[in-house]
Parts: sequence; C-alpha cells; structure tokens
Amino acid sequence: MESLLGVFNGKFLPVKDIKISPMSRAYTFADAVYEVVPYINGKAIALDLHLNRLCRSCEAIKLNADISIVEKEIQELAHQVLMDTNGYIYYQLSRGTDAIRNHLYANDLTPESFGYVTLTRKSNNHQKAKIVPDIRWGRCDIKSTALLANVMLMNQASLEGFNEIIMHRDGYITEAGSSNIFIVKDNKIFTPPKNSHILAGITRELLLQNFSQSFNILEEPCPLNLLTEADVVFLTSSTKGMLVINEIQNNDYSLNQNHAPFIELREAFNNFLETAF
Ligand code: PDD
Repeated sequence: MESLLGVFNGKFLPVKDIKISPMSRAYTFADAVYEVVPYINGKAIALDLHLNRLCRSCEAIKLNADISIVEKEIQELAHQVLMDTNGYIYYQLSRGTDAIRNHLYANDLTPESFGYVTLTRKSNNHQKAKIVPDIRWGRCDIKSTALLANVMLMNQASLEGFNEIIMHRDGYITEAGSSNIFIVKDNKIFTPPKNSHILAGITRELLLQNFSQSFNILEEPCPLNLLTEADVVFLTSSTKGMLVINEIQNNDYSLNQNHAPFIELREAFNNFLETAF
C-alpha cells in the first residue's frame, strides 16, 4: 500500500518517512491534542469549528501554537490529495521533545505538529454495541490523544464480538468509543448535554445548530434505560457522519428501521453536509 501523505513540523512528506524522537512528549506522555477534519467532495466541513476546538484544547493544556499555520497545512494536504473526493485529515499538536523525560515541561519547548490525509472508506457493518462503565478521566472535553481508556474498552468489546461501545457514568449515558450518541424516542431526539465527561463533537454541534428546532432534538441527561425504549440509537462523528446502531448488548432495544422522522433527519443532514460548505 502506498504511504499516506503527511506533514511533520511544516515538511510535507510520506508518513512512512517521518521520524519522531522517543523523547517526544507525544510519545512519553500523550501530551498532545488533535482534530479530525472531514472533507466531502473536496470541501472541508466546518473547518472553522474544528480550528476553534483545537484552540480550546491547546488553551486547556497551555500549549502555544499558531493555528493559522495549522489551517494552511490542513488546506495543503487536502489540496494535494482530496481534490473533489471524500476523506479526512488527522492533525495533532504536541508539546515538543524533552531532553530527559520529566512530567514538568520546560517553557521553551517547540511544539511538534503532525498531520496526514486519507480517503474515506465507508463501512456498512452491522453495528453491535456493548454497554460499559465510562472509566475515562474527568476532562473528556479536551480532544487529547490520551485515549488509552477508549482503546482498552473498545478492544475488549471487540474480543467479545462487538464493534462499538456505549459508555455510562453514574447510570447516565456519556458517549460512544469515538463518537457522540443520540437516542430517538417517538418524536423526540435526546443527546447528553455538554460537560467535561463528553467531547463536544462538531457533527453533534452541526445537528443541534441546524435541526434541533425542526426535529425536536433535546440536550438532556440520558439514563441508561432510555436505550430500551428507543426507536433508533445513532452515533455522530466526523468520520462516521450519522451512524445507526443495529443491536445493543443485553437490551430490548430493537431498531425501528422505518422511523420516519429519523429517516427524514438523516436525509436532511446528509444534504446539508453536501451543500452548506
Ligand atoms: N473522534 N466523542 C469522542 C470520544 C470522539 O473521539 C469523537 C471524534 C467524537 C465526535 O466528534 P466530531 O463530531 O467532532 O468528530 C465524540 C474522532 C473522529 C477520532 O478520534 O477519530
């Protein structure tokens, strides 16, 4: 397989040719934040919202970075590879390289940047979710590369024959392994409110900003038993768009494939993504 095109500290080169120091704080501490920006027909979806969130993540971890350079590099990666196709760009900023590993960082470190571009591969897999306690840290609102809890939970679920997880804290649903969650019941659509236990997804935000009035989408705490009563449970992310969950572990949830408001919303949202940017 051909190597992906990447950018590392301002240099565009194949990802396989990028060398990082083992003393990079991205490597030793996951002292890094990231974004995933989707492209549809070669157009970036909500690039400004992604860059704003990256700024917020940087501020939260006190990382000084020039976001205008990030924007230029993202646009250049897209220009070189995506043309008028669908794909996404992964881009991370980390604190830099230590002389010797130390939790305390020196104030004069030069931030390290790394990104790559790839085409979207659509999967039509049957989505089977396991329900798991949310064992992550208390700042899930920061889009940090420190995702070991997600990695552990998702791989354990995969070993047990699931391909998705739905996490909960104190009896309330937080989100899925790498996406936000929405629960459709009758003519209402619920999603957990923004707080430090979930990532404020851009796809979630676009749905709420543009369709909450017309489709009755409500940000409300979602108790676990809402899953049992749901007509449709779906996930949102930059790489998945709106993705339906087909089956949930130990749950009476039975997907109503023909739920009219949901089908209408999905069509309206996909149309919005293709035309609004
Ligand atoms: N994940 N929640 C979590 C934990 C996520 O990792 C993501 C995105 C989302 C959805 O955010 P957005 O709509 O902005 O993509 C919610 C990305 C795609 C990833 O890590 O690959």
